[in-house]
Amino acid sequence: MLNIKYELAKELKAKPAKDKPLGFGKITTDHMFIMNYTEGKGWHDPRIVPYQNISLAPTAMVFHYGQTMFEGLKAYRDESGHTRLFRPDMNAKRANKSNERLCIPEIPEEDFVQAITELVKVEKDWIPTEPGTSLYVRPFVIATDEFLGVAPSKTYLFMVILSPSGAYYASGLAPVGIWIEDDYVRAVRGGMGFAKTGGNYAASLAGQVKAHDDGYSQVLWLDGVERKYIEEVGAMNIFFVINGKVVTPMLNGSILPGITRDSVLTLCRSWGYEVEERKISVDELIEAQKSGAMTECFGTGTAAVISPVGKLRYKDDVMTIGDGGIGAISQKIYDTVTGIQTGKLPDPFGWSVVLD
Ligand code: PLP
Ligand code: COI
Repeated sequence: MLNIKYELAKELKAKPAKDKPLGFGKITTDHMFIMNYTEGKGWHDPRIVPYQNISLAPTAMVFHYGQTMFEGLKAYRDESGHTRLFRPDMNAKRANKSNERLCIPEIPEEDFVQAITELVKVEKDWIPTEPGTSLYVRPFVIATDEFLGVAPSKTYLFMVILSPSGAYYASGLAPVGIWIEDDYVRAVRGGMGFAKTGGNYAASLAGQVKAHDDGYSQVLWLDGVERKYIEEVGAMNIFFVINGKVVTPMLNGSILPGITRDSVLTLCRSWGYEVEERKISVDELIEAQKSGAMTECFGTGTAAVISPVGKLRYKDDVMTIGDGGIGAISQKIYDTVTGIQTGKLPDPFGWSVVLD
């Protein structure tokens, strides 16, 4: 249990206007959580302070070798005014899987969740309530040792910042076009694809720029060895409906084990749908689209929620999925996941944690 010190802001910022789209990740709230790690002392000095810049030496290791971990989850205000988090225990567990891969010290799960909970409680007036909006929570760790050698740092900062956000994609909830990248790769087995760490996203940028230049929202990555099997999208896991079955790539060490992915699999199984986690080749997708067997495609992620994919491009093939709009299964999943997250629907799995 953390003994958090509070230094509250003397002046509060103006809240965003309700009639303008929030976009994603552009605004921060009044406060942040911060805690230090020092070898031999462990995690110490947990505090909630006014949101502020941090000062680091140019030699701070994070700038050079990318020893960092981040997470993403959301807080919602339900219709009775209660604050809810969606499966924060899963973020705590995944944070430590990433930490372990990056040689960052473990953060006790209960401390990770407590840091988020206490900060969100302080900032609850920042939770937007318009449809499709929420308070995005970004916990992260950076290596702070002042040293240019390559080695795990002996000091770190763990911070949590908050951002009232709306739709992740500029197109809002309209189906997105996705570019299947056939040249660059994001991660390989044995690498750190399963971890949520900056380097994976840095590796994705050149492909993303290419995709954007061609009018596509994001990249769908292929496996790093054969460039043949579907992995995941830049900021979400990917699902297909093929012959009525819900199909998604299995977890193989090079893709992120998404919390939304896990929730969608659990829901679909509970509805009696046939669900497969397996290898999916890009050739299979092309065939399934041509034969009409692939009727839906959607991405899943905290920021992206459930994002229908209307179009997939692979080399010279541009595949329209279904009628290019949102499919019936995708819609049902979207309605159920967001219904549970916002407390509008019953929560049979106990995923939605009420804070106050
Ligand atoms: N894959 C990548 C690369 C991501 O960045 C994300 C977003 O967090 C996801 C998948 C989806 O994970 P989650 O559902 O836990 O947000
Ligand atoms: C999230 O969905 O929480 C993410 O971290 C995606 C992100 C890279 C914007």
